[in-house]
Amino acid sequence: MSEGDEIISVRGLNASFGDRQVLHEVSFSIRRGEITLIIGGSGSGKTTVLKHLLHLYEPPKGTVYIFGKDIAEISEDEQTELYLQMGVIYQNGALLNSMTVMENIALLPQQYTDMPEELIQEMVLMKLGLVNLSDAAWLYPSELSGGMLKRAALARAIIMDPPLLFCDEPGSGLDPVSLAALDGLILELKEKLGMTVVMITHEVSSISRIADKVVFLHEGRVLFEGSRDEAMNSELPQLRDYFAKGHGS
Ligand SMILES: Nc1ncnc2c1ncn2[C@@H]1O[C@H](COP(=O)(O)OP(=O)(O)OP(=O)(O)O)[C@@H](O)[C@H]1O
Ligand SMILES: [Mg+2]
Repeated sequence: MSEGDEIISVRGLNASFGDRQVLHEVSFSIRRGEITLIIGGSGSGKTTVLKHLLHLYEPPKGTVYIFGKDIAEISEDEQTELYLQMGVIYQNGALLNSMTVMENIALLPQQYTDMPEELIQEMVLMKLGLVNLSDAAWLYPSELSGGMLKRAALARAIIMDPPLLFCDEPGSGLDPVSLAALDGLILELKEKLGMTVVMITHEVSSISRIADKVVFLHEGRVLFEGSRDEAMNSELPQLRDYFAKGHGS
């Protein structure tokens, strides 16, 4: 497969909590080597979509294909294999407070590989270098600033060099300078490592900085799917309205 191939395809996805339907016939696709931003107001269903991509829920209707396979149909081994190819920064995901940054990031390779400890440490230090946190390896999460915590979470998500990175609001709570720096790092992951990135965000400024593609969710429906320029120039009233409110900016 080459750059631009479709590697995730969501078709006709519904989701409900109890008798409340929160996703309605959601369909969109993600192409290899691109940064796709999923945008939309609070409660529009963005995190729920992400959780379906990770197969944390069984959809009552609809299908998610990743690397060409229906993720509801794959074996447990294939599921584990797939998880190792997906780095995730969860919306509320924090580092474990009782462990240093190094220990937090080392958890995944310790669990899933036979690599000797020194090699794992080297790997972690390399990733910390990538996110400009080399000096923070032996600090505890409580000793980091908000922006440093986000970058540590990013290092943790990419520790196994996953081809696919999912981030749910990685920039929330950051000042504009830290947010721009985080966007810059994500762009670097795409450009230097060829990662495919799916990022949920409220930050309109991130769209012009890093998006190749935009998916706009409104009340559980995909109202827009297209390139960054198409999004910025769209006449769709709900999208115009969303931009006009300047979410997060
Ligand atoms: N575990 C849950 N149980 C019940 N309802 C839920 C649950 N998770 C989400 N919902 C509901 O589903 C809808 C979509 O929520 P979701 O978290 O996907 O929104 P979001 O777009 O990520 O919002 P935000 O920008 O605030 O993070 C909301 O109405 C929410 O109340
Ligand atoms: Mg959310």
